[in-house]
Amino acid sequence: MFKVQGLKPLHGKIKVQGAKNAVLPMMAVSLLTEGRTEIRNVPRISDVFLMAEILRDLGCQVMFQDDVLEIDASGLSGTVISEKTVGKMRSSSLLLGPLLSRAGEVTTWYPGGCVIGKRPIDFHLDVLRAMGAEILDDGGMLIAKAKKLCGTTFRFPYPSVGATENALMAAALASGTTKLLNCAREPEIMELCSFLRSMGAKISGERTGTITVDGVEKLFPTDHVTAGDRICAGTYLAAAAAAGGEIEITGVDPVVLVEPLKALRKMGAGIRISGATGPKARIGMVMERRPAGVEIDTGPYPGFPTDLQSVFLAVEAAGSGESRFKETVYEARFEAAMRLAAFGADVSLHKDTAIIRGRYPLVPGIAETPDLRGGAALLVAALAADGLSVISDSGHLKRGYEDIGRDLRKLGADIEEDEL
Ligand code: EPU
Repeated sequence: MFKVQGLKPLHGKIKVQGAKNAVLPMMAVSLLTEGRTEIRNVPRISDVFLMAEILRDLGCQVMFQDDVLEIDASGLSGTVISEKTVGKMRSSSLLLGPLLSRAGEVTTWYPGGCVIGKRPIDFHLDVLRAMGAEILDDGGMLIAKAKKLCGTTFRFPYPSVGATENALMAAALASGTTKLLNCAREPEIMELCSFLRSMGAKISGERTGTITVDGVEKLFPTDHVTAGDRICAGTYLAAAAAAGGEIEITGVDPVVLVEPLKALRKMGAGIRISGATGPKARIGMVMERRPAGVEIDTGPYPGFPTDLQSVFLAVEAAGSGESRFKETVYEARFEAAMRLAAFGADVSLHKDTAIIRGRYPLVPGIAETPDLRGGAALLVAALAADGLSVISDSGHLKRGYEDIGRDLRKLGADIEEDEL
């Protein structure tokens, strides 16, 4: 439970953690090789702990010390990802491609819907079928088998991040050439391609959305430093936009934050990128006014990330104008928007669009986190509320933020946490 005393401007510097959505597929891909793969700058979040547990269940050795993860899949012995695990972490579906490729078989279950939408895995299954997998599917359990995956040409109906990742991992050791069209172009896809290339995979074209993978006989262990988490960086910038103040973020390449930074500038924030280019850059932000209204459509990268929609919406709840957020990636990602009513926010929903009329200050509220990013949104709203807000969380935030309370405190927020 978080107790947040609002209306304290944020000041200070913070280095963001490594990217959750880059680490999870790299952990899955380590199944494709024998020997010790080392991944550094790994965030200590529950999704990573859970993926490590799944890999151990499958017979891999996994060590996780500080921010260094070592995975050795030489002893891979299992092919079942339990229903219980799938229920806890949807991204366990990322193991389908690599397990099928390495062991020729996978038994798992449908992940089911979640609070942000239905989240089916039909594209994952279709691309694996196109590569020769036989998939028995009774709508609950899934049994996939393939003696040897074969190269194919496949167009994704939508540039799904997870399905693109699964296809890449399956294609790396498939026989022949795989051509993937309409692929996702998120930075995490770029990182997975570099990671696979460093293991010996032959991949090209990822920046264009059409990826060609020439299957190789064998992949080798590698080591890698994970990029900074663009969604964590965006969350902390949003926190400072709501609370006001001046902060500096390091550890993330500003290039992957083009749309969120554009939105912050429109709100009236002063943004300054300094120091080196790339991940060594420093992103400075000053916010000396109430955020002006913005119009944001979420979309696949390079569009505005859906994972920052609720957090930016919370900023505008305490803004000075009217904003419109259109959610195009998920069909039901407005749970947090609805919960902002607990802080007196004026939000109305019209199908895929939320209209927010900013009011400041917000009133202190009591609310429960609906999901990972929605939880962060409630904290952001609490920073702009005149008094003590209480936000309870049943573990959503730890899935993606190492310690969001610690980080916001470091920036000067008045946040206490207790176990209740
Ligand atoms: N979709 C389908 N069929 C599929 C796959 C996806 O219809 O087979 C639909 C989804 O239902 C959704 C859209 O396509 O409406 C996009 O889904 P996508 O597959 O791109 O998302 P994902 O791979 O399941 C990753 C991130 C999410 C992030 C999305 C979109 C990971 C582990 N997760 O999910 O991150 O929202 O891409 O950028 O990489 C988060 O970190 O909070 C989070 C939810």
